[in-house]
Amino acid sequence: MQELQHWRLEREPAGLAWLTFDKAGESTNTLSEAAVRELGLVLDELEREPPKALVIRSGKNAGFIAGADIEEFTKIESAEGARALVQRGWDMYNRLAAVKYPTLALIRGHCMGGGTELALACRYRVAVDEPGTRIALPEVMLGIVPGWGGMLRLPQVIGPAAALDMMLSGRALDAKRAKRLGFADECVPPRVMDNAARMLATSGRPPRKLPLMQRLMNGPLKGFVAAQAKKQVMKRARPEHYPAPYAILDMWANYGGDALAVPADKPTSMNAIAASPTTKNLVRVYYLQERLKGFGKDSDFAPKHLHVIGAGVMGGDIAAWAALRGLTVTLQDQSVERIAPAIQRAAAAFKKKLRDDTQVRFTLDRLIPDPAGQGVRQADVVIEAIFENLEAKRKLFADIERIAKPGAVLATNTSSLKLEDIATALQNPARLVGIHFFNPVAKMPLVEVVEGASSDAAALKQAMAFVRKIDKLPLPVKSAPGFLVNAVLAPYMQEAMRCVDEGIAPEVVDEAALAFGMPLGPIELADTVGLDIAVAAGKELAGEGAVPPKKLLELVEAGHLGRKTGCGFYTYNQGKPAKQAAGAVPAGLAERLVRPLLDAVQRCLAQGVVADAELADAGVIFGTGFAPFTGGPMNYLKEHPQVGP
Ligand SMILES: NC(=O)c1ccc[n+]([C@@H]2O[C@H](COP(=O)([O-])OP(=O)(O)OC[C@H]3O[C@@H](n4cnc5c(N)ncnc54)[C@H](O)[C@@H]3O)[C@@H](O)[C@H]2O)c1
Repeated sequence: MQELQHWRLEREPAGLAWLTFDKAGESTNTLSEAAVRELGLVLDELEREPPKALVIRSGKNAGFIAGADIEEFTKIESAEGARALVQRGWDMYNRLAAVKYPTLALIRGHCMGGGTELALACRYRVAVDEPGTRIALPEVMLGIVPGWGGMLRLPQVIGPAAALDMMLSGRALDAKRAKRLGFADECVPPRVMDNAARMLATSGRPPRKLPLMQRLMNGPLKGFVAAQAKKQVMKRARPEHYPAPYAILDMWANYGGDALAVPADKPTSMNAIAASPTTKNLVRVYYLQERLKGFGKDSDFAPKHLHVIGAGVMGGDIAAWAALRGLTVTLQDQSVERIAPAIQRAAAAFKKKLRDDTQVRFTLDRLIPDPAGQGVRQADVVIEAIFENLEAKRKLFADIERIAKPGAVLATNTSSLKLEDIATALQNPARLVGIHFFNPVAKMPLVEVVEGASSDAAALKQAMAFVRKIDKLPLPVKSAPGFLVNAVLAPYMQEAMRCVDEGIAPEVVDEAALAFGMPLGPIELADTVGLDIAVAAGKELAGEGAVPPKKLLELVEAGHLGRKTGCGFYTYNQGKPAKQAAGAVPAGLAERLVRPLLDAVQRCLAQGVVADAELADAGVIFGTGFAPFTGGPMNYLKEHPQVGP
């Protein structure tokens, strides 16, 4: 056989063959053109001398397979190029699926996209039960489709409902869930994985069969299932913004999961997907995310203990999130009674998220009520999240500094106070940094790491390493009113409320923003944030001499503060706004709404609040949900110069 660079084939005397994927010169396995071609050479060799069974595994500690090679993918410029890439994997995996000898994928660590499709082309799958094992078909998040057999085989293996959920959301399975759904035949601990793979591969066990109902849903009932799923997709993504989920449904329901079978002139064809700017922009968003993930990587700071002061809306949720991510957390407030609601909220959230009583107990054990603030002494990171009062914060930090470990990160979660004004209360003001979370903490991926005038560079780096440790995306920003995210959101929301003052219905204003691609209309967003907070933010951030929206002030005066009081611009029933049908959106309304946001982003850039346009885009997308298919506000301005200043 020709010399292989990326795969290693070893045969045991008893006939079992082990094929190890170990991409040359890289720490993760990606399925580049060369790697897929070599897999073909291996299959040629195994055809000449068939093994008793074949186990495919990874030679990397990082995981099984991260998917196709995104670098290669970004270089594709034509529909023909995109079709050729799909064809390559589709053909290869069909070939693998057709071999006569039993095949097994031994999955440990990440298993994404083309890696999952390779596993699906095997007869059996063993998932190794450890925290890093994540199995997904995340193509939709890049605006593309699982074209290497995922749309054909995943529904056959786990049934269409679960398969469509995975393919349309990009959500990952852990090893236990993979077993429960039938994706994995076995879920085993690492120490027995090789043995389990050997035994199953040579067992002669027939592949698992789907229950009858699932087979019907994958056969004659496909049209019905696809129509139901489409309704759900339409609630989340408009086809003009995100064609890929609609293409996945059409390809599965009408073309046997074969992306290449859809005629080129259909909006769900590979040609249409390749031509859509969404794909390019979502790949950009992927790279932006990778860039944020890189912050703090060069630090060896490995925090284990977080101390949070203030168990309110933010502090309570920050503490719960960090405990969920494996840290020991002490949570301080003025009394046990003030901490109790946060622990209760955390318990409910853990239950929902972990679905395993033992894990819930372990996680709750890590979240320790600490009314006396004992934890400050041991903590690696201390986050202050008490109410927004400068004197109270100054006093607190003067006390914290005296007893905290010399190397501990000292951070404030303040949204509107000047970091510099708090920092001067410390003996060493350089120690203070901002770690600014967004509400709701569990849902918002971004955290701004704020550099004050005197903040120490090493402390900032440690703060970013901490943010990564709890699986959030750190955005380095300079201390300035509203930092980046609130500074761009406030004028956008104010403009929306001014439209309401002019007589445009809130529903119409919100619809204009949704049609632009925002996740939530600005009026509903204001109600959600709280109208009292909107007034305060407006005063601080709307700019010199800006007149506050009239209706906003009237509502606040009447005690209608939005969702939390059941009434704001909308009235709320069980947390849901009662909305009238929006009707026609006047031309230019969306542009009018977005204009102040775009201006504010440019202002922040000019003032150096964020270092460059890429980081501005990343911050605004992950901090506000700004239409990801546009690639971010700065990218949008570049692609729509007519909207420019
Ligand atoms: N609410 C938001 O959406 C949001 C978002 C980002 C940042 N922030 C910032 O987070 C901080 C907290 O905001 P919140 O909305 O969670 O407030 P909150 O009013 O819900 O909670 C504040 C808590 O701090 C406690 N507290 C006050 N003084 C204390 C002290 N000296 N020692 C211990 N505990 C004390 C209070 O008892 C209360 O439980 C503020 O600085 C705010 O600017 C808020």
